[in-house]
Amino acid sequence: MKDIMNIPMNDLKREYALLKDEIDEAMAEVLASGRYIGGDVVDRFEKGWADYLGVEHVISCANGTDALLIAFMALDLQQGDEIIMPAYGYIAAAESAVLIGLVPVLVDVGAAYNLDVSLIEDAISSKTKAILPIQLFGKCADMQVINTIAKRHGLYVIEDAAQASGGAVVIDNQTYKAGTVGTIGCFSHFPTKNLGCFGDGGSICTNDKDLAEKIRRIKKHGQSAKYIHKDVGVNSRLDALQAAILNVKLKHLDQHNNRRREVAKRYSSSLKHQEIKAMDFDAAHTYHQYPCVVTSDRRDAIKSQLSRQGITSTTYYPKAISEQEAMLGKVIVHSDKRSKELALSNLCLPISPTITDEEVDHICDIINYKL
Ligand SMILES: Cc1ncc(COP(=O)(O)O)c(C=O)c1O
Repeated sequence: MKDIMNIPMNDLKREYALLKDEIDEAMAEVLASGRYIGGDVVDRFEKGWADYLGVEHVISCANGTDALLIAFMALDLQQGDEIIMPAYGYIAAAESAVLIGLVPVLVDVGAAYNLDVSLIEDAISSKTKAILPIQLFGKCADMQVINTIAKRHGLYVIEDAAQASGGAVVIDNQTYKAGTVGTIGCFSHFPTKNLGCFGDGGSICTNDKDLAEKIRRIKKHGQSAKYIHKDVGVNSRLDALQAAILNVKLKHLDQHNNRRREVAKRYSSSLKHQEIKAMDFDAAHTYHQYPCVVTSDRRDAIKSQLSRQGITSTTYYPKAISEQEAMLGKVIVHSDKRSKELALSNLCLPISPTITDEEVDHICDIINYKL
C-alpha cells in the first residue's frame, strides 16, 4: 500500500528541532541558575516583548485565561457589569467574566470571524463597561471603530489577542501590533500559539502605568510588598523555563508569521473545491489558523475523508459561545446568527511555520481531486 503522508494541524516537534540549539542553551542557562520562578530571564521576556509590541508595560502570567481574568480584576469590574464580546471564538474570555460575576453580552461576528462592529452600539446598556474583541485566528477586528465607540461611551477595550501575536492593526493610517491598541491586551503563549512556549504561559500589556502596577500586584496575590496584600489577587506566574523559550521564539516570531502567510497564500490560490470556500489572502493576518467554510452540510464527512487520507483538520469551534451549555443563563445573547452558521461550517486546515510547500500542495490536491 502506498505510504500515506500524515499531516497534523501543527508539528511542535519540528518547531523544536528547528530551534533546538538555541532553546537547549537557553533552558540549560535557567537550569544552572537555580532561579526557576521570576528573575532575570522572566524580566528579559517582559522587556523584549514590550519592545517588540511597542508598549510601555508587559506583565507575564501563567496562561491566556488568567491574563483575561486579571485584566477584568485590574479594571475593577464589578458583579453585574456587562462586557460586549463576540458570540464566536474561544470561551476563555466569557468564562473568566462569568467566573467573577460579570455578564458577557454576546454580539455576532462578521465574515472574517471578528466582532461585527456595526452591531456593537445596539448592545450597549447602562451596565456596559468594556468591549472585548477576540482577534480570532490571527486577524484583528476593526479596532479603529471599536476604539471610537468605546471612547464615545466611556468604555474600556480589552483585546483578546491570544491568537494574534505579531499581528497588525491599522488606526488612522498608523500600524500597531495586535493587542496594543486597547486599554489592556491579553496573550496566550500555549505551545501551538504563534508565540508559544513548551507549557502554559500568558502575558498582559498596557500603556497605563497605574494599571500595570495593579496587574503586577494582582498576579501575585495582590502583594504591594512582600507579604503585604493591597488587593485580592491570584497566583499566576510564567516560570523561568517558559520565559527562556519565549525569549528564543520571540526572535523568530516575524519570520514564522511570514511563513504562515506564505502557507495561507498557497492555500488561498490553490484550493478549488466547490463545497470548500477558502479565505482571500490577507497580508495583515497572522494565520494562527487557516479557516475555510464548507458550504454544504458535509463538513463532518469531509473531515473524516481528510482524516482517512492522513490529513488532520479541526473545527474551531463546533458551537457558538452562546450555544455552550456552560454559558446558558449567564450571558446576554444580543445576536449570534452568523456565529451559529460558522460553528456548523468551519473547517481549519493544517498551518504552522514548519509545514512544507509539498505538504500544502498535497493537502490541496487531496481536497481538489480526491474528495
Ligand atoms: C482566543 C483565545 N483566548 C484565550 C485563550 C486562553 O489561553 P490559555 O489556553 O493560555 O489559557 C485561548 C487559548 O486557546 C484562545 O485561543
